[in-house]
Amino acid sequence: MKKIIGLLIIFALIFIVGCSHTNNESDAGVGISSEFPAPGFEDVPEAIVVDADLETGVKEFNVVAKKWEFQPSTIEVKRGDKVKLNINSVDVTHGFSLADFGINENLAPGKTTVVEFTADKTGTFTFFCSVYCGSGHSDMKGMLIVNE
Ligand code: CUA
Repeated sequence: MKKIIGLLIIFALIFIVGCSHTNNESDAGVGISSEFPAPGFEDVPEAIVVDADLETGVKEFNVVAKKWEFQPSTIEVKRGDKVKLNINSVDVTHGFSLADFGINENLAPGKTTVVEFTADKTGTFTFFCSVYCGSGHSDMKGMLIVNE
């Protein structure tokens, strides 16, 4: 009789272990189904992201340089902001000149060039492409607006 009870206990244990294993699998299934990015948002581009970091005071912009424009072409900040531009040239070599802040950078094709400066004066300042890049070169420019 003891042997039978022992066997029953063993069978019961196997049954419980089997069940809990099955439960774990279904839990894992639920975990996988909460997708990221959420369904329908896979194709939303991250091209132009404005990120204001309140702790460091850095305002970060992703800028695309291409024949023959900068996107976005208007960048607006406040005086005193530390500005960080991640400029991605998607076709040929361009340049980024922001003469009022002493900046002139080469933008190699297919690369992201980081430009950092402090917007320490107010006004509207023109930035432009400083490397000849074809017939629209002289129109390739934009505006930095620094508000009080
Ligand atoms: Cu782009 Cu010159």
